[in-house]
Amino acid sequence: MLSAGRELPELVVAAEKTAGELGFGKSSRPEVGRLLAAVAASKPNGVIAESGTGVGVGTAWLHSGLGAGARLVTVERDAEPARRAAELFAEDERVQVLHGDWRLLEQHAPFDVFFCDGGGKRDDPQRVVDLLAVGGVLVLDDFTPSAEWPPRFGGEVDELRVYYLTHPALRAAEVLTTPGSSALLAVRQG
Ligand SMILES: C[S@@+](CC[C@H](N)C(=O)[O-])C[C@H]1O[C@@H](n2cnc3c(N)ncnc32)[C@H](O)[C@@H]1O
Repeated sequence: MLSAGRELPELVVAAEKTAGELGFGKSSRPEVGRLLAAVAASKPNGVIAESGTGVGVGTAWLHSGLGAGARLVTVERDAEPARRAAELFAEDERVQVLHGDWRLLEQHAPFDVFFCDGGGKRDDPQRVVDLLAVGGVLVLDDFTPSAEWPPRFGGEVDELRVYYLTHPALRAAEVLTTPGSSALLAVRQG
């Protein structure tokens, strides 16, 4: 496994502990986390956003790549995970954890990085694209690799994946995160 033998950032370990305590099973795995950290690091003065904080595992990975001049805003609709995640990042004034619907993020746009992981991705994909800065990077995960074009999931064409991969304002690519899962990286063009 790619992540074997590599240490996890301290806040990722802390967030994973919270996940265990709350029985939260939807956190990003390290393979995706390392991608998030790399993308966050590419925008050292950027606005980094995440929809769907969960308990803060993905947030902690984004944070591990966060530049001194960058800020990170994340939103979670469920109160307890949001509260626990906010506690984790309370010491760092670059980080804001919001409790509520993903649309609360809009007041912080445009985004240089947007990890859209809970809210937006399926219910308003055009709005997701609109919230990106020119040159901003959108990250979407939890896809199942497909050898065909158009990609299929469960026997059906995966229209959502096609939407992002072919959107005229995006340059997008699908990358394997594990042998059985993939993520989309899409950069907004002018
Ligand atoms: C896949 S989990 C997030 C995992 C987290 N991003 C990570 O990387 O560890 C999706 C989260 O999105 C939250 N969510 C779903 N719909 C939402 C919405 N409309 N607004 C805000 N959060 C939402 C869920 O409550 C859930 O905690």
